Amino acid sequence: MARRTALRPLARPTVPLTLFIAEPEDAGDGQRTRYQLMARPGDTILELALRHGIAIEHQCGGICNCTTCHVHVSEGPEHMSTPDEDERHRLHRATAPGPTSRLACQATVIGDGPVTIIVPEEP
Ligand code: FES
Repeated sequence: MARRTALRPLARPTVPLTLFIAEPEDAGDGQRTRYQLMARPGDTILELALRHGIAIEHQCGGICNCTTCHVHVSEGPEHMSTPDEDERHRLHRATAPGPTSRLACQATVIGDGPVTIIVPEEP
């Protein structure tokens, strides 16, 4: 007999999140495309972006083993998970890391928002 697994219902998307990213047509001119999204509590920034067809690089597949998903949380860091030791260690290898740096595959929405994310052109 097959084992039955209880599925958790997905949380409703209730957290406003603005994401700025340089699309290919923006490259080099300093402009970024603005996306106004609604995140579910528990979403990582990467999951949210990919669900909306927004291409944040994620070379390692989201296992905290590269820095290609480097982003900046410019508003609402208190609504995001705290970076663990692995993420902090990995961020030191990102291009121009700063106090707002996070890895999109590790940073999880935990609060009510709003949150603003900027994807740098050089991860
Ligand atoms: S995708 Fe590699 S660390 Fe996030």
